[in-house]
Amino acid sequence: MAIRLKVFRFDPEKDEKPYYKDYELDAEPTDRLLDCLNRVRWEQDPTLAFRMSCGHGVCGSDGMRIDGICGLPCQKLVKSLGPQVLVEPLPVFRVIKDLVVDLEPFFERYRSIKPYLVAASSPPDDERRQSQEEIHRLEDAVRCILCACCTSSCPVSQKLETADYVGPAALVRAFRYLFDSRDEDMGERIAILDRKEGAWGCQTLWKCTEVCPKEIPVTKLIGQVKRKIYVVKKGAK
Ligand code: SF4
Ligand code: FES
Repeated sequence: MAIRLKVFRFDPEKDEKPYYKDYELDAEPTDRLLDCLNRVRWEQDPTLAFRMSCGHGVCGSDGMRIDGICGLPCQKLVKSLGPQVLVEPLPVFRVIKDLVVDLEPFFERYRSIKPYLVAASSPPDDERRQSQEEIHRLEDAVRCILCACCTSSCPVSQKLETADYVGPAALVRAFRYLFDSRDEDMGERIAILDRKEGAWGCQTLWKCTEVCPKEIPVTKLIGQVKRKIYVVKKGAK
């Protein structure tokens, strides 16, 4: 079947402003949009820039906006799209070239929530064990591949005046450590998250949950983070 990709193009080093370029190709209904982009780059226009690695929804590197909705082209089959597809970079972030954006601000916010286990106590002789229930509690959050689709789609992250908000992806990772039975840094984590730039920046608008390609209940997890802050602070009074 014939498909036309209308692709955002911008090279700040030589273009005065962004523009859109059309590429037409024949594709199988079961081809992925990422296959089409690769064929454009290999067969028609080697200057087209986009990120990809695994091709299978694992690495999170190919986040982009597809027909106005943030997602992964490696998870979009041609048969699920129309004959013309609008392909743009993730919003919120500065465009480096074409579909490649500068994700450093995203990872800076991610690092701000201390995305690692903190355990100061001496470990037991064997290992720090968890029950099945304790592991189950984290299963949604550990599926996150840091594709940035949620943060790009979040209306709070999109506003300049609330651009310091850590964003949904960082809060999903915060959930992962806040609710990990092995972590011993609850007080510090609560202090980091108990701010308007932290968990309270979330206005429960659900856009993150709508776009997450790993079907993580992002808004629900952020709600549990807020509740945890409330309960811990109330207990401390
Ligand atoms: Fe991507 Fe979902 Fe993780 Fe957000 S929560 S970074 S949309 S995988
Ligand atoms: Fe790795 Fe899409 S290329 S997630």
